[in-house]
Amino acid sequence: MLPRRQEYGMKRSGGARSGSVINFRSAMKLSSGRRSSAVLPSLLTFLVIVASGGLLLMIEKGMLNGMETPSPRGNGRQLDLHRGQAGDILQEIRNRTIKTMCSQKNMPHSVWSLSPLQRKTLLQHVLVNDEYRFLYCYVPKVACSNWKRVLKVLSGALENVDVNIKMDHRSNLVFLSSLKPEEIRYRLKHYFKFMFVREPMERLLSAYRNKFGEIESYQKKYGAEIIKRYRKGRAKDAAITGDDVTFAEFVRYLLDEDVERMNEHWMPIYNLCQPCAVSYDFIGSYEHLESDAEFVLQRVGAPPHVHFPERQTWYKPVTTETIHYYLCGLPQKLLRELLPKYILDFSLFTYPLPNTTTAHCRH
Ligand SMILES: *[C@@H]1O[C@H](CO)[C@@H](O)[C@H](O)[C@H]1NC(C)=O
Ligand SMILES: *[C@@H]1O[C@H](CO)[C@@H](O)[C@H](O)[C@H]1NC(C)=O
Repeated sequence: MLPRRQEYGMKRSGGARSGSVINFRSAMKLSSGRRSSAVLPSLLTFLVIVASGGLLLMIEKGMLNGMETPSPRGNGRQLDLHRGQAGDILQEIRNRTIKTMCSQKNMPHSVWSLSPLQRKTLLQHVLVNDEYRFLYCYVPKVACSNWKRVLKVLSGALENVDVNIKMDHRSNLVFLSSLKPEEIRYRLKHYFKFMFVREPMERLLSAYRNKFGEIESYQKKYGAEIIKRYRKGRAKDAAITGDDVTFAEFVRYLLDEDVERMNEHWMPIYNLCQPCAVSYDFIGSYEHLESDAEFVLQRVGAPPHVHFPERQTWYKPVTTETIHYYLCGLPQKLLRELLPKYILDFSLFTYPLPNTTTAHCRH
């Protein structure tokens, strides 16, 4: 699945110019269409490497993780925009990767060149704050409830971010989709635009464990449907509760779904936020949530008492062991089809593909 060492050097020198367009197009088709079984693992690897100009190697080697991000200085919020070397390098890699991949001819270059469905999805995921002049594209399972809390505090709808209430995901929030085209155009041009991303498989697992493990409405709506479709002999069973969907069944379901029509909790981040059509000023990581969130708050000029909420006490992290357990438990065939479906999230946001070689999975 993953490249052997010497392949890096070889393919890196091919560069983003020659040959990558064709591969890129076919990968695009694969990742947005229903049939993705024919894709070659080497193509995926190639794509990821081309996208990041070899800098992924640094991430893989843990060089970026090794660099300490200093904690913000002082307790007030001076305009201290220094976020540490690691964060800056990652931003630069992301910038360069997105620039390279988005400059391909077949990629959208503005919100208005998206299809109506793509545009609708995007505009419904962008939250507006006119006072501090920013746009935030929210991605479910990437701390979006906490960001919504922050937005509500900034607009005065909530007293402080730690108020113990269940988050209402609609009320007191302004979505870009509720504005007129000229209002949308103005804000896209002049406001600070940001979003947060997360390792794609971690996000997927988080959605799977939360929705199918805990939320009855999802078990009824999606769980029952998945079991009817994919569990032998259950197609006509009326008594299905949908509360025991296996990860393999969930993945089979994902493979048959069109990425543009998926539920937002498992729709690829690419399709939610369209990073080629919108030029985001900042793409933060769930992996550096505290420092990246603090950076954004400084950047938009939020008052010092507005801080990003602590992780909830019920927060269940998706650990490396969890990922290993679920991914290695999948049949290789499903895994080979699943990664292409999320390939743009891996490559645009510079996450290395998970190591799912049999050697690795045996541990
Ligand atoms: C990345 O690109 C954005 C938008 O073009 C820019 O505002 C930002 O400063 C860039 N960040 C880095 C680290 O180059
Ligand atoms: C994957 O894991 C195996 C076993 O731990 C290791 O030998 C191999 O080098 C890893 N591959 C990559 C590309 O990291």
